[in-house]
Amino acid sequence: GIDVSKLRAQTGLVALDPGFTTTASCTSEVTFIDGDAGILRYRGYPIEQLARHSTFLEVAYLLIKGELPDAATLENWVARIKRHRLLHENFKAFFTAFPHRGHPMAILQGGIAGMATYYEETTQRVRDPEQQELQAVHLLAKIPTMISYIAKRSAGLPLLYPDSDMGYVEDFIRMTFGLPYQRYDIDPVIVRALETLLILHADHEQNCSTSTVRLVGSAEANMYASVAAGVGALSGPLHGGANEAVLRMLTQIRDSDLTVKDFVEKVKNKEDGVKLMGFGHRVYKNYDPRAALVRETAHEVLDRLGSGSDLLTIAMELEDIALSDEYFIARKLYPNVDFYTGLIYSAMGFPTKMFTPLFALGRLPGWIAQYVEMINDPVNKIGRPRQVYQGATRRDYVSLRHRS
Ligand code: ACO
Repeated sequence: GIDVSKLRAQTGLVALDPGFTTTASCTSEVTFIDGDAGILRYRGYPIEQLARHSTFLEVAYLLIKGELPDAATLENWVARIKRHRLLHENFKAFFTAFPHRGHPMAILQGGIAGMATYYEETTQRVRDPEQQELQAVHLLAKIPTMISYIAKRSAGLPLLYPDSDMGYVEDFIRMTFGLPYQRYDIDPVIVRALETLLILHADHEQNCSTSTVRLVGSAEANMYASVAAGVGALSGPLHGGANEAVLRMLTQIRDSDLTVKDFVEKVKNKEDGVKLMGFGHRVYKNYDPRAALVRETAHEVLDRLGSGSDLLTIAMELEDIALSDEYFIARKLYPNVDFYTGLIYSAMGFPTKMFTPLFALGRLPGWIAQYVEMINDPVNKIGRPRQVYQGATRRDYVSLRHRS
């Protein structure tokens, strides 16, 4: 066969593929997507089954280890994660060092990268399975604590420590919304809804943030550094930031003189570059299977909490208009997973700025699973794309006084 790397070296042959729309960067056994058929499976299991029957930590185990755990293994896994949920006490100072209004994703990214300084001994041998597992456990255990600290600090409220007697998602809600010496009753419907949303976000093969995690990790950077880079990618409005943008868009429509129809016209005319946020996906061109499940959850949560229904009505109207409009049909634009998530998070009481950190928590098992797959792959190489240079040809330096 043809030795492509030799050929490239000799001929300078490179494929130019902006946005990597047709370039596979790796082989993977983690997640299967069929964008045309609207299929998503983690390790072979349909997302619909996992969203209904599994828990977030079980799905994390499945993604990272490749198989569903038996009862004893799962118990062990969950107990181990719960044991590690405290952050080092010195770490608390980190959260006060930022401006009150600082974006939580920036703080989260810094916090995760900073974890490496506390667990340096685990970062030395990136290929050691024990160290990989310890870093995975640290990340899964401590990130919910970190996110709840960020939420509390930005609201100027006192922090709560993790309670290992409580469920993972339940305790995350308590730490985020509860106050010291006050009883905080948690509605199991809300816990299940959040668990479902986290499962739906847990992996999505080689998306922008996951590819970032793999690329950074391909330089043998440790898992904390790689996941922190993934958080940076996720903060972009075209990726994880879309859930925030959807809520802003719905609120804007509600508070403006525009009808939903007028707004859709604005989008179609590309006025001020307005897009229908929460619509469209690089891979799903018929429908996003997660969006259907999120829509169901939105109705459950909003019925339960009785808030946000004005925005839900606008969202449903937008969806109805868009789905029967030629502009959206021709471009195969459907609601994606984030069209309804912001509404749910908002009804649960999360401030808008906390939406993307919730996505980061959800995506964490996928980032870890893909990092582990990448670092253990014997054919893995440092990621180093080529380019097609189009800049100036050779020219001579001009001293400052001769430049006009
Ligand atoms: N609203 C209006 N028009 C759109 C939208 C949208 N949301 N998305 C794409 N289009 C249009 C484009 O303007 C383009 O039209 P044209 O052919 O007339 O120029 C056409 O559809 C194709 O769009 P691309 O940008 O080429 O599609 P791409 O696959 O590169 O982008 C993306 C996918 C980034 C998700 C895009 O649809 C988008 O920006 N959506 C809104 C943001 C969003 O919801 N992101 C979340 C993604 S899911 C996730 O990260 C979990």
